[in-house]
Amino acid sequence: KVIVIDFGGQYNQLVARRVRECNVYCEIYSYRTDIEQIKAMNPKGIILTGGPNSCYEPDSPTYTKELFELGIPVLGLCYGAQLMMHVLGGKVEKAPVREYGKTEVFVDTTSPLFGDVSEKTICWMSHFDYISKVAPGFSIAAHTADCPVAAAENREKKLFAIQFHPEVLHTQEGTKMLHNFVRGVCGCAGTWRMDHFVEHTIEAIREKVGDGKVLLALSGGVDSSVAAGLLSRAIGKQLTCVFVDHGLLRKNEGDEVESVFGPDGQFDLNFIRVNAQERYYAKLAGVTEPEQKRKIIGEEFIRVFEEEAKKIGAVDFLAQGTIYPDVVESGLGGESAVIKSHHNVGGLPDYVDFKEIIEPLRNLFKDEVRKAGLELGIPENLVFRQPFPGPGLGIRIIGEVTADKVRIVQDADAIYREEIAKAGLDRSIGQYFAALTNMRSVGVMGDERTYDYAVALRAVNTVDFMTAEAAEIPFEVLQTVMSRIINEVRGVNRVFYDLTSKPPGTIEFE
Ligand code: XMP
Repeated sequence: KVIVIDFGGQYNQLVARRVRECNVYCEIYSYRTDIEQIKAMNPKGIILTGGPNSCYEPDSPTYTKELFELGIPVLGLCYGAQLMMHVLGGKVEKAPVREYGKTEVFVDTTSPLFGDVSEKTICWMSHFDYISKVAPGFSIAAHTADCPVAAAENREKKLFAIQFHPEVLHTQEGTKMLHNFVRGVCGCAGTWRMDHFVEHTIEAIREKVGDGKVLLALSGGVDSSVAAGLLSRAIGKQLTCVFVDHGLLRKNEGDEVESVFGPDGQFDLNFIRVNAQERYYAKLAGVTEPEQKRKIIGEEFIRVFEEEAKKIGAVDFLAQGTIYPDVVESGLGGESAVIKSHHNVGGLPDYVDFKEIIEPLRNLFKDEVRKAGLELGIPENLVFRQPFPGPGLGIRIIGEVTADKVRIVQDADAIYREEIAKAGLDRSIGQYFAALTNMRSVGVMGDERTYDYAVALRAVNTVDFMTAEAAEIPFEVLQTVMSRIINEVRGVNRVFYDLTSKPPGTIEFE
């Protein structure tokens, strides 16, 4: 395996991910990890990540020189590159010009790192400091107009330093460079696949949990489902999943979750489904203010979960489906800086009696979680499920929530999803759903006057859900959806398509 030593860069997990894409297993450790521990793992290669500090400052993260004398290939990236030079006797200084963004880099294609890479290649730069003098024994392997040492190498000792970020996709041939390092220089076979992750994680869970008991709140979303799958394979009935059906799920969703994780499903675990629909509807009766609705739904979840947890009694572990982007956003990503806090992390329920948290997906990106899910045999419709907000349909029904409105929005949404899938658009649109406006208007059906609700269709394309644009759905598809909804869903006589982008709109309606 390859070890990534984390110096606090924003891209550290991306490095790990790119290495995994080369079919090489890797793990991330903090720069505080002792050299003896690193040696004991006997890695085939070591990668030092970037980081926000200046390596010549006295308190900056550093690593013992011995790391470079183990005979194990080392690749330093950005801060890691500067640190390597600094520790081995080169010179790092504040750069006269800060390099940031896509930059043309001239590489020495005879370097084992740059085999097959174009002589002139676009790379992602982001640094204040620069290597003004390479360490003894090193030669320059790449430069840019502003930066004399964009890469340095000591081929004999297999030590490489790269000033830019090969892990970022803006570095057009970055994956090739990392491939050259892990597969070429380190000689990794490239046989690691997602099924190894699954096996490895199952082993690790067994070791950690022993004969302890684990409790997981299963939402039916991708992350908690994959976590449940892994835990079930690892420890079977030592795992209890509590699935709260708050009556605000999409059509048939509760039953779908139950068919996968319930007693007739393929996973060995204790599955508890709490049918709390009536409780939720009672609490939500007469409430129209969006934030108040959210709050009620959230609090009620805690109450229901708490009641179930009390029945189960003390457990050893509370499992969560936290994935890596959640960790980074909360500023808990190893050494990286705080960006914003995330609701899935940190906000631990204090009402459940447990000793420790277990998060088996903490190092994975969403698409990797999906791959692991498929590997575990979780059905595709669950694995490729769209994001669905915690408060569910509660925030897709504008105004008061009632059982009848839930039925309308469930049925309309099911038709919409069916037609989108039929048109082959289901994997290309970021998120799409039907919502129930709180508006009723006059229509005519047969010879009868109607006075019914209007359904709004929403479909957006987005990279990160922070900004979004309305998706261009072919008009015929929208027409089919419209006529089916009006014909098949009682209580609806109008259908709108929402063209609003985000901002100024949000993706959800409340
Ligand atoms: P907005 O409406 O803020 O939605 O543009 C952005 C993304 O977040 C999802 N969303 C939520 N997810 N709990 C969640 O887990 C929530 O309370 C929540 N509100 C919005 C929304 O579906 C979209 O993907």
